[in-house]
Amino acid sequence: MTTGPVLAVDQGTSGTKALVVCPERGVIGSGFAPVRPRHLPGGRVEVDPRELLDSVLAAGRAALAGAGGPVAAVGLANQGETVLAWDPATGEPLTDAIVWQDRRAEEVCAALAPRAEELRALTGLPLDPYFAAPKMTWIRRHLTREGVVTTSDAWLVHRLTGAFVTDAATAGRTQLLDLDTAAWSSAALDAFGLAGERLPEVVDGAGAFGYTGAFGAEVPLTGLVVDQQAALLAHGAHRSGEAKCTYGTGAFLLAHTGSTPLRGDSGLVSCVAWRLAGRTRYCLDGQVYTAASAVRWLTDLGVLSGAAELDAVGGAVPDAGGVVFVPALAGLAAPWWRGEARGSLTGLGLDTGAGHLVRALCEGIAAQVVELVAAAAADLGAPPAALRVDGGLTRSALLMQTQADLLQLPVEVAALPDATALGVAALARMGLDPGLTLKEAVPGAAPSAVYEPRIGAAEAAERMAAFRAAVAALPDTPAAPS
Ligand code: G3P
Repeated sequence: MTTGPVLAVDQGTSGTKALVVCPERGVIGSGFAPVRPRHLPGGRVEVDPRELLDSVLAAGRAALAGAGGPVAAVGLANQGETVLAWDPATGEPLTDAIVWQDRRAEEVCAALAPRAEELRALTGLPLDPYFAAPKMTWIRRHLTREGVVTTSDAWLVHRLTGAFVTDAATAGRTQLLDLDTAAWSSAALDAFGLAGERLPEVVDGAGAFGYTGAFGAEVPLTGLVVDQQAALLAHGAHRSGEAKCTYGTGAFLLAHTGSTPLRGDSGLVSCVAWRLAGRTRYCLDGQVYTAASAVRWLTDLGVLSGAAELDAVGGAVPDAGGVVFVPALAGLAAPWWRGEARGSLTGLGLDTGAGHLVRALCEGIAAQVVELVAAAAADLGAPPAALRVDGGLTRSALLMQTQADLLQLPVEVAALPDATALGVAALARMGLDPGLTLKEAVPGAAPSAVYEPRIGAAEAAERMAAFRAAVAALPDTPAAPS
């Protein structure tokens, strides 16, 4: 069965990207609408949920206008751990959306610390405000007991179709999902004080999730998934051991682990990759909380005019000039799990210029990814042969070369940077045509660029040692106020 073009919408932290993807002709329309989360004192990051919905509609309609024709279905990828309370009767938000980077739920995690190991065994996730459940609890304690409290995908889907669902991979980002059964866990709900909450039905990533007329004629919503897992799928990383890293607002390394969850001891998260036809696949997941948002931070300080200038500014100097930047601007995640940590810049001198800061930032992001790849290799028992990458920051040759240098492995850049949208496009096609296999839905494509390491192992080890020393020297920062 030919399924026709689908509209794939990637609702991310800093904006929504939409593509119209045609099985025969590839991408035939695209649209983008920015989202500007508010960064507040105490590590708080929030956004008006209406801005998320407006960006979905604007980007989707722009992509359709570019394609110049109808689509057969819609797929929606979401940012994962961003939560809000909303009224299921009217669909109106009752709170701002608390973004995944927000640290205000430290107090919830601190109180649950004695149950951390139990919760990790049950859900695959360490206790950290990054995940949805601590933020859901915080909303219930401090903002409202009205309505439902869910991840942003469930609200967006409700606004688009009226359905009340979330896919298994997104549900797995809450810390409320039993990792082995991929069903809501009453023990985890109890632990977070969320027993009795009305939760969305956990569905597969491909299926029939209602109809939406939001983009023109009524079409079915047939693909749903969390963004990082969508990118893993689009890279064709469908077998155990295959990995990718997406450089978006944060950078996220995911490695497929097959049909049983792998609970490693290297500090990575063990979670659902996707569930299709009732069969769950799992992955390991490691996070760099600030990648493009660290670039934006340097931009806001006036060091550069935006990500497009990374190579020009960083390329003006031969190296970081002794500057070491740990860009832990929203804490450190795997493998350290030091949410209280904040960034550091060391080695500054009167001769330090913008180029040195840019190079030090690229090294700081790349070094964190090296640690994540090492952790995945330890858990899987073998290093990858190469690292597949995607996301907006892969346009920076400086960052990608730095990554290859520090990793001492080739870095293969995806043909299109929008792997997340392509992944959810594949799911939307599978939802339309249940006979379509994953392999058929994800066309293989040669990388657009391959970066080989240009420095030797000794120099890479020396630069990694400097970064590790800087991480070890980070001071503790008091927890965010409630
Ligand atoms: O876990 C949060 C992550 O999935 C958000 O992705 O693309 O908005 O940085 P992105």
